[in-house]
Amino acid sequence: MTSAELRINSPADFHVHLRQDEMCAFVTPLVRAGGFRLAYVMPNLKPPITTTEMALIYKSELQRIDPRVEYLMTLYLSPELTPDEIRKAASAGVVGVKSYPRGVTTNSDGGIESYEAYYPVFEAMQEVGMVLNLHGEVPSDHSSNICVLNAEVNFLPHLRSLHQQFPKLRIVLEHATTRAAVDLVKSLGPTVGCSVTAHHLALTVDDWAGQSFHFCKPVAKYPDDREALREIIREGHPRFFLGSDSAPHPLEAKSTSTSLSGCAAGVFTSPILLPLTAHLLESFGALDKLEAFVSTNGRAFYRLPIETGESVTLRWGGTNWGTSGWDQGDQGGWGQNGRDQDQNIN
Ligand code: NCD
Ligand code: DOR
Ligand code: ZN
Ligand code: ZN
Repeated sequence: MTSAELRINSPADFHVHLRQDEMCAFVTPLVRAGGFRLAYVMPNLKPPITTTEMALIYKSELQRIDPRVEYLMTLYLSPELTPDEIRKAASAGVVGVKSYPRGVTTNSDGGIESYEAYYPVFEAMQEVGMVLNLHGEVPSDHSSNICVLNAEVNFLPHLRSLHQQFPKLRIVLEHATTRAAVDLVKSLGPTVGCSVTAHHLALTVDDWAGQSFHFCKPVAKYPDDREALREIIREGHPRFFLGSDSAPHPLEAKSTSTSLSGCAAGVFTSPILLPLTAHLLESFGALDKLEAFVSTNGRAFYRLPIETGESVTLRWGGTNWGTSGWDQGDQGGWGQNGRDQDQNIN
């Protein structure tokens, strides 16, 4: 390949951590730099985003940092959240509610322990058309043989029963990592979708065991699990879409030798996300599904307009994929319109 071009309509990242303060100022512009026009923003800040007012303040901060990206906001499921607050959030344009089981990942100490207490909240969400975003892991419990490797599979019965209770509620199983999760989401109805990260299309247990920069939650699983994620994208299944879970941490928090609390979970992919995703899909024969996976499928599930306003053009230059101003340039690779490429935004 020497002169291939791919035009991708308005890429959308349906799961990203944009953090707060200096980290937020640093990483937020990298959404657009990585080729994306829409960010579905996670609420696990300190303190978590639990009210409409907090979500709107956070959104205006993100818009101030980079107004070129569309930010879709979420609330953190917690006991503060009431059906009234859900109705308020929906009228203010907040799109979803993210549920973290207690203690399973970054800033999840305030996460939930049982879903039943939240049924009135879910009922209200179903009524107003908000989306429930599930971090699909149960906490480790060694007396029940539960650890990071089977935390997702043991969560799946909760997804099944939530869908049974609230068949019209749109639910997204976030960052799926197992064949069992893929099979379950496939078997459920049109109201259940699934986000898939770029890194889980690349990594297995072998890659994060001893390599803290590949450590995230849920952890990458077996080669066959990764194969299931690749297969469902190759198949072009419309309810599976990209949510990067790009999750930056300060360097010292990722290093097990400097952090007393162990290594922070998170793989940071925003700055190279579109070229990385293109590279990965190409590697397993799914490059023809790139636009569906990074734009059309997620927008359809979230009932957002399929924009035709702004596309991103990737170009193959010789050896790998790159993005404007990053690993692109004289080395060749797939490059995106930008600084060192001809502008080609329509
Ligand atoms: C710019 C864009 O997306 O419009 N890219 C970016 O912010 N990284 C174009 C540019 O590269 O200047
Ligand atoms: O790896 C992860 N990092 N998984 C999550 O669920 C949270 C995220 C974070 O916020 O760091
Ligand atoms: Zn999560
Ligand atoms: Zn996340």
